[in-house]
Amino acid sequence: MTSRTLIIVSCAGAIFASFAAAQSTGGLPNGNYIPHLGDIMGTMQLRHFKLSFAGKLRNWELAAYEMDRIKESFQDAATLYPGIPVSDMTVMAEPVRRLGEAIQKKEPNKFASAFSEMTAACNGCHQSIGRGFIVIKVPTSSPFSNQVFDPAARP
Ligand code: HEC
Repeated sequence: MTSRTLIIVSCAGAIFASFAAAQSTGGLPNGNYIPHLGDIMGTMQLRHFKLSFAGKLRNWELAAYEMDRIKESFQDAATLYPGIPVSDMTVMAEPVRRLGEAIQKKEPNKFASAFSEMTAACNGCHQSIGRGFIVIKVPTSSPFSNQVFDPAARP
């Protein structure tokens, strides 16, 4: 093994070790990486999109998965940024509960109405917190050409 290969191999080892550390500390490597609220929200926007398309195409397995990820983002935002109004965070609870139910029962109409309700709650908080210029809407087309959302098209 050349010394260059050795360096590459040991760097990869360090990266995997830090992933392992991140997992054991609940996602915060060494306990000192705190994502910016804007970054948590950017991720939330991504999940909001994927959840919408999964539900629209009745890919309930994927929808349940994305729903869990969106809940994680809410938890991260609420835990790491307690300054954001709790009341605005709790208004998400009801739409999230209804979305979960629609996914479990595989009901597209209930999913669509709960999804619109959740989207309105996203904007409600943005308005109340002086970020009314960040307007979220139910997506109509996919910016992702690298992921399949239609369960029928699954390889
Ligand atoms: C309880 C309050 C609250 C809720 C609920 C909320 N947001 Fe936010 N959001 C914020 C705040 C505060 C910011 C501004 C963050 C900053 O400037 O650092 C923000 C910023 C954003 C941004 C801008 C980030 C960027 O990189 O452009 C997006 C997108 C966003 N939110 C999406 C969402 C979506 C989607 C939902 C609902 C699924 C949601 N937010 C729900 C408080 C909230």
